[in-house]
Amino acid sequence: MSVLSRFLGRSDQPGIVVEPLRRRHVAGMMPIENASYPKPWSAAVFNSEIEMMRRGERCYVVAREGNDVVGYGGMMFAVDDAHVTNIAVARSHQRRGIATRLLAELAWAAIHHGSTALTLEVRLSNTGAQALYERFGFESAGIRTKYYENVEDAIVMWCHGIREQAYRTRLRELSPEAAR
Ligand SMILES: CC(C)(COP(=O)(O)OP(=O)(O)OC[C@H]1O[C@@H](n2cnc3c(N)ncnc32)[C@H](O)[C@@H]1OP(=O)(O)O)[C@@H](O)C(=O)NCCC(=O)NCCS
Repeated sequence: MSVLSRFLGRSDQPGIVVEPLRRRHVAGMMPIENASYPKPWSAAVFNSEIEMMRRGERCYVVAREGNDVVGYGGMMFAVDDAHVTNIAVARSHQRRGIATRLLAELAWAAIHHGSTALTLEVRLSNTGAQALYERFGFESAGIRTKYYENVEDAIVMWCHGIREQAYRTRLRELSPEAAR
C-alpha cells in the first residue's frame, strides 16, 4: 500500500471513520445489533458497557460513515487476556474489511493494555466470522455445548502471543489503517 493510499484509507472503505464508542452512537447501533443476533443486546447493555469502558474494563470502537454507524466491536479485559464480546457490521457494508479494521483496532488496544491473548466464542454455524477470526490467528480451543439459546454449540477460540513482534507485523498487514 502506498503512503498516499494508506493516508486515504482502503479504496473499498471511503469515508469510514473508526473511533471509540460513545453514548451518542448507541441509537445508530441498534438496527445493526437487532439484525445481527437472535438475542440482541439492548441499548441499556451498551450504555453499561460504556460505563465500564470509562473504568478501563472494556474497549469498544465504532465504524461510521458520516453520521451513520456501520459497524462496531468490543472486548472486556480480564487479567491477562481480552475477551471479544461483540463485533457486527451492517449488511449493506459487509465484505469491505470493516470488521477486519475493527478487530485490528481491538487487538492493538489489547496489546497496549498489556493483554497477552485474545479469546471469544462463535456459533458453530457462523463460518464467516470464524474465517475472519482465523485470519487474525485465532484457533479453536474447544466447544461449549448448547451455549447459544440452549441449542447451538459455541466454538471457543484463542489467539495467543499478541504482544510478539510477529503478531504486530501480522496486524499491520491485515489492517494498515489501524496500525500503530
Ligand atoms: C462477521 C462479520 C462481523 C464480518 O464483517 P465484515 O466487515 O463483512 O468482515 P470483513 O469484510 O472484514 O471480512 C474479512 C474476511 O473474513 C471472512 N469473512 C467475513 N464474512 C464472511 C462471510 N459471510 N462468509 C465467508 N467469509 C467471510 C473473509 O475471509 C473476509 O475476507 P474477504 O472478504 O476478502 O473474503 C459480519 O458478517 C457480521 O456482522 N455478522 C453478523 C454478526 C456476527 O456474526 N458477529 C460475530 C459474532 S461471533
